[in-house]
Amino acid sequence: MEPPAVLSTGLTNTLDDCRLVQLPQIADPRGNLTFVEGGNHVPFDIARVYYLYDVPGGAERGGHAHKELRQLLIAMSGSFDVVLDDGREKKRVHLNRSYFGLEIVPMIWRELDNFSSGSVCLVVASHRYDESDYYRDYDEFLAAKGL
Ligand code: TYD
Repeated sequence: MEPPAVLSTGLTNTLDDCRLVQLPQIADPRGNLTFVEGGNHVPFDIARVYYLYDVPGGAERGGHAHKELRQLLIAMSGSFDVVLDDGREKKRVHLNRSYFGLEIVPMIWRELDNFSSGSVCLVVASHRYDESDYYRDYDEFLAAKGL
């Protein structure tokens, strides 16, 4: 059966389509400044920003993939790991700088763990929250990718 056309772009996405983005740093003795512009540092218009904080030691977040959503994850404070999985390969990315973002494209399974104490994960997203955009079942995710 043909997948819905709306998914056609993301289905073949691999780990190579996710990338670390170095963001501008305006160094200043009063404190540094970094910014993210939609359509510039991320290849989408920014529709939503959310953040994970007060994450208890040993906790894991994520555990899903998105059909359409594009995101940039930034360790605003502290550090954490993102495990990316395209259904064939996995890669662990350690984020610990507030001027680096990890861009995650659609149809990539992700898990976040190894949060340091007091860490904050900022997420810049291409769409507003929509539960129907999630794959929360790994086998369903694999099946959607034809794997
Ligand atoms: P979820 O995306 O599963 O969190 P994470 O991937 O960071 O572990 O979301 C957790 C809950 O929060 C879920 O019930 C949906 C809700 N939620 C919103 O209502 N709006 C949002 O923008 C987000 C990201 C989540």
